[in-house]
Order: sequence, then structure tokens, then C-alpha cells
Amino acid sequence: MTAPTRSSRSDHDGDSDHDIAHPRFATLYDWLPQRLLLGPHREYLANGLAGRVLEIGAGNGAMFPFVAEGAATDTLEYHAIEPDPHMRKRAVTAARDAELAVDLRDARAESLPYPDDSFDVVISGMVFCTVQDPEAALSEVTRVLRPGGEFRFLEHVRADGWRGTGQNVLNPVWKRAAGGCQLNRDTVSLFAGHEAFAVDEIERLAFGVFPATPFVRGTLRTKREKVGI
Ligand SMILES: C[S@@+](CC[C@H](N)C(=O)[O-])C[C@H]1O[C@@H](n2cnc3c(N)ncnc32)[C@H](O)[C@@H]1O
Repeated sequence: MTAPTRSSRSDHDGDSDHDIAHPRFATLYDWLPQRLLLGPHREYLANGLAGRVLEIGAGNGAMFPFVAEGAATDTLEYHAIEPDPHMRKRAVTAARDAELAVDLRDARAESLPYPDDSFDVVISGMVFCTVQDPEAALSEVTRVLRPGGEFRFLEHVRADGWRGTGQNVLNPVWKRAAGGCQLNRDTVSLFAGHEAFAVDEIERLAFGVFPATPFVRGTLRTKREKVGI
């Protein structure tokens, strides 16, 4: 397992020219009842994984037990990136506890350290709310996926109506408290509108508590002839 480190600062906004380091958020994230809240959706992301799989923004490794349980074959080759050293340290422990072999790297979704067409599946759980440049991150996902490869995601997105207005108001405070997470991103439009992807399914979930709601999960597939890259 590879887990290089880089220098870190204390909690801040995580702008693209800063290191990403949120020690308090990493501690808080450990305390969330992950399995209870997100279990079925993590199972969706992990279901039947096989071949070369990349998880972006792996956080504290909360997906790893589900991946170990859900893998379809023993040919799974699991890779993950996570830029925050406080999260990455926890992910190393989570991989060991789950007995999952993970090639874990210090990298950002906007600049993935892998060649073109190198993965069968990319998964993302609540990462596009936090990445500094969602368009660049999605472009990297399309680049590293092979033609016909799957992008599976679970994300919370901007709500409609008064909830959306409330999210706009709360967003600056939330972002500081939640490791750079943003409440009001229109991630589904970004995903579904990308010309390199065909939509297999997108499902709006009756789950989540204001202000981090609604959640959406789904699967996109890179077109055989990749365009827009
Ligand atoms: C809400 S956590 C989700 C963690 C994990 N994916 C999960 O399912 O629990 C968001 C994660 O995205 C990471 N992150 C922040 N900026 C990132 C970037 N530019 N590229 C990749 N990951 C990033 C954060 O460090 C954090 O671990």
C-alpha cells in the first residue's frame, strides 16, 4: 500500500493553491454513523466491482469494508486517491482492517496520476461537493476511464425552492466547518451534461437531512468513442 505524505496546514478552505488539510473535520467524520446512514448507498457503489477500480477522494476509507464485501471476483485491483493527510492516515488503517489491498496515493481528482483509459470503474462518494474544480475533476475521470467504463457516484446536491436559498445562505459557514464541502452544487447537471458520458441511471434519493440534501446516486458510462476530452 502506498501512502506518501506532504506538508499540511491547519483547517482552511482548501483552495486549489493550498494543501488540503482538515484535521477537525477528519475527526468529526470518524464519528458519523456511516453504516447506518449510508450503508445501502455504499453497497450500490461497491456492488460487484471487478478489474481496475479507482476511488477518488477516499476520505477515511469508509468505502473499503463495502468494497471488500462486495467485490465480484478476486481479480479486483483497487486504487484510491486522497489529498488530505489526516484522512489518508485513517484510510491506511481502514484498508488494513478490511483486509483490502489498496494502492492509496496523495493526489487530487483534478490531476489524477494515472494514464489515459486505465480504469474499468471510477467511484466517488460525496467528493464533488468538495473538490476545488468539479469540471476539471470530471474531465480527469473521463480521461482515466476506458471506453465503456463506469463512473458510479453518490453526491449531495443543491435543493430546489426555499431549501436551495437556505443552502446559499449557509454555504460559507458550512464550507469552513465541513472540510470545504459545498451545499449548493448542481452536480447532476454537470455529470449528465458531459458529452463523454451516457447515463445508465440517476436516482434522486429520499434521504438526507437539511442542509445536506437531497442525495443523488447513479452510474454513467463512457461512450465507446470518447468525445470532449
Ligand atoms: C465528505 S468526504 C468523503 C470521503 C469518502 N469519499 C466517503 O465516501 O466517505 C470528501 C473527501 O474529498 C476529499 N477531497 C477534497 N478535495 C479533493 C480533491 N481536489 N480531490 C480529491 N479529493 C478531495 C477530502 O479530503 C475528503 O476526504
